[in-house]
Amino acid sequence: MAMVCLSDFEAYAKKYLPKIAWDFFAAGADDCITRDENILAYKRIHFRPRMLRDVSIMDIRTKLLGTEISFPVGIAPTGFHQLAWPDGEKSTARAAKAMNTCYITSTYSTCTLEEISAAAPGGLRWFQLYIHRNRAVSQQLVQRAEALGFQALVLTADLPYTGKRRDDVRNGFRLPPHMKLKNLEGAFEVCKISLLDPSVTWNDIHWLQSLTHLPIIIKGILTKEDAELAVRHGVQGIIVSNHGGRQLDGGPATIDALVEVVEAVQGRVEVYLDGGIRKGSDVLKALALGAKCVFIGRPALWGLAYKGEEGLQDVLRILQDEFRLSMALAGCASVSEIGQHLVQFSKL
Ligand code: FNR
Repeated sequence: MAMVCLSDFEAYAKKYLPKIAWDFFAAGADDCITRDENILAYKRIHFRPRMLRDVSIMDIRTKLLGTEISFPVGIAPTGFHQLAWPDGEKSTARAAKAMNTCYITSTYSTCTLEEISAAAPGGLRWFQLYIHRNRAVSQQLVQRAEALGFQALVLTADLPYTGKRRDDVRNGFRLPPHMKLKNLEGAFEVCKISLLDPSVTWNDIHWLQSLTHLPIIIKGILTKEDAELAVRHGVQGIIVSNHGGRQLDGGPATIDALVEVVEAVQGRVEVYLDGGIRKGSDVLKALALGAKCVFIGRPALWGLAYKGEEGLQDVLRILQDEFRLSMALAGCASVSEIGQHLVQFSKL
């Protein structure tokens, strides 16, 4: 089977993964309206491409909080990578390092942070945190990540409770007995999302800042009001995200929410986006609307399901090639030339 675009990896994963794992990866909340909107919204945005602009030499590199990556696509935090591939997050870390991009490691990894670091020493990694009711557990995780060389802390703000994902309920989804939430071992016996702390507020950003020197990035922001609060609380970055449509169904597509967040932030912190990125041209649209970088969730899992580290590298390489080509065809030779002038919203 020739793997030409990300949908080919999706089709492969759907065919070969056990149904319960596929359903867990694919799930959106309730009617999956927001999950699907994340993808549909890109179709309503069109380019205003420019011609005759010398695109013989292309520079697609960018920087995340000052660290260079090979192109503006990183790996969003997703849990349970061993459901996709036996080596789990170790393979993810190796692929990200090989492609010189950023891997945001989830609290809910099936390998330890130590194993992940050892698998790809020196790779750019950020640690994604869910705050647990037992604050000592979260504190210890943050400090472990910092000691291991993770370069930023990503606080996920959109999961005080887990959204209602119907297929997971029907399947009675739980991790198979041989897989563990390794970073929480000892802290909890089983994966109980209810152990997350739903009382978290903006004040807890200050608590996090007191625990770590790492920059803090907040993930799950969708409005200008929250973007302003994030900046005022001293975060260094914002990820516009709706958790891949897995939390509140009926919220906006992330590419639509990006515009108001970017406008509110006015360049004071970096703004990133995840949700629905499936093609290089989606990346170009997100950058045109002000994202510094985007992250992929499910497509990374499809890559792992296809061939582990190699499969994920294939996914990233395809996105990289597509992004470079889209940029060139739109008349941009470097990422710094991408701007809002490149896109228009279709008049429906
Ligand atoms: C997620 N996401 C997520 N986010 C997070 O902060 N911590 C986590 O552990 C997880 N786990 C997770 C598992 C699975 C299976 C999915 C699909 C998603 C959300 C993730 O970081 C990201 O926001 C979305 O996946 C982006 O949308 P796409 O790229 O999947 O469309």
